[in-house]
Amino acid sequence: SKKVAILTSGGDAPGMNACIRAIVLVCERSGFDVLGYLHGYNGLLKQQYRELDARQMHNLTQRGGTILHSARCLEFKTDESARLAAANLDELGVTTLFVIGGDGSFRGAQHLGNFWDGQIIGLPGTIDNDIVGTDATIGYFTAIETAVQSVDKVRDTADAFERVFLVEVMGRHAGFLGLNGALASASDYVILPELFENEEKTLKDILTQLNERRDQRGNVSYIIILAENLWPGGIADLVSKLEQRTETEVRPVILGHVQRGGSPVSQDRLLAMKLGAHAATLIGKPITGIMVGEQNGQAVEVPLPLTWEHSKPLDDLSVNTMTLLMNNRYA
Ligand code: F6P
Repeated sequence: SKKVAILTSGGDAPGMNACIRAIVLVCERSGFDVLGYLHGYNGLLKQQYRELDARQMHNLTQRGGTILHSARCLEFKTDESARLAAANLDELGVTTLFVIGGDGSFRGAQHLGNFWDGQIIGLPGTIDNDIVGTDATIGYFTAIETAVQSVDKVRDTADAFERVFLVEVMGRHAGFLGLNGALASASDYVILPELFENEEKTLKDILTQLNERRDQRGNVSYIIILAENLWPGGIADLVSKLEQRTETEVRPVILGHVQRGGSPVSQDRLLAMKLGAHAATLIGKPITGIMVGEQNGQAVEVPLPLTWEHSKPLDDLSVNTMTLLMNNRYA
């Protein structure tokens, strides 16, 4: 019978397990054997894997992280590694490989495709949502939820002290998590890579709004969301500049890897299941080197290089909503 393999690679994302489950269940029905490589591409190089069957998929949908473990494998960039991976897959008789991960993982998958004749199918798993060709990525919605719940809590203490808080969210070089996390938490200002002009303009904007609010209402709390990897001098530099100019204490909160964990919210579970199940129906079809994504409620197959060649634009409606509701003195 046909043998297929799954690996999860790069930053783990809530919903990866639900995706593994969907693939395994569909494969079981079709009579395919499934194995899971461990630790991303490292397992593929070291022939570390476990067999996956439907019984092990019980109670998995709701679990964060990835049962297959993940890693960033720089070594996989070399031709030698891709050749070794191809030989390992052939040795086990694997004919289809599913790669659940983000753009780095997809680049790895494309690279492997230059050395391996088998079928390669990518599934978008990252909290960053920075993958072109799919409306959303698996893990993104849960990360927004985590950021929003955290900011809600920060708001309580910010209100109590009428303080300014600076909350740093993940997203690597994309602002999706920052934008939608800031909107849903009704934050007061958001600093995003896609919309950032310069330090001075940002500081001035914040100061103007904060002072207008203070004039109208006296002391107020003020929450600023900052996308990671963006502020030139880092978050500490922005804190000290804000403290100088606002003449108040500014407290930083770095949400960090908390945003990567937790039980996936329904949207991520559903996306993971839909994409995983659809991907498993492609086994053996003459299509390879693609990512399965969702666009407007439909499953789509997108050539891997298209998923990273351009950067994905922020969602227009969210940006418009931000302009209407945030970064202004009326919020
Ligand atoms: O890609 C997911 C992500 O969490 C990014 O948001 C972040 O920049 C990066 O991974 C962190 O990487 P690491 O877990 O290797 O520190």
